[in-house]
Amino acid sequence: MIAELVRHSIAEEQHMYPAARKHLPDGDEVADHEIEEHAEAERVMNDLIGLEPTDKRFDELVGKLIEDVRHHIEEEESDLLPKLQAACSPEDLRDLGEKVLRAKAIAPTRPHPAAPDRPPANRILAPGTAFIDKIRDALANRDT
Ligand SMILES: [Fe+2]
Repeated sequence: MIAELVRHSIAEEQHMYPAARKHLPDGDEVADHEIEEHAEAERVMNDLIGLEPTDKRFDELVGKLIEDVRHHIEEEESDLLPKLQAACSPEDLRDLGEKVLRAKAIAPTRPHPAAPDRPPANRILAPGTAFIDKIRDALANRDT
């Protein structure tokens, strides 16, 4: 669940939010808001990965994560995506879709400890990378 959400964040932060900034009059505001929601979800996931499923906080955090992500999806599907669809040409939309799918497919698998977590630097250096590596380390340590 966490790996899939992080791959989603990486793809959007690399391609969709820059497209929003470029094509929408209020794109900076929208992108900053969505990135802040990603950061909040990352904070919850960060708390979650250190817990055993039997921990009493586990269900509470999973519930919060589900609630936060549903809100985020609702907002993007009812606001950001329709605005982008209206503002972009079919070619731009196809190109954007291909970039997002490609970014999800090649999500980082190697440590990149210097990757920043906040804009604008996370749009330049591989966003989400340090977080993914932290998750992988945590999961690997649980198996040993
Ligand atoms: Fe998102």
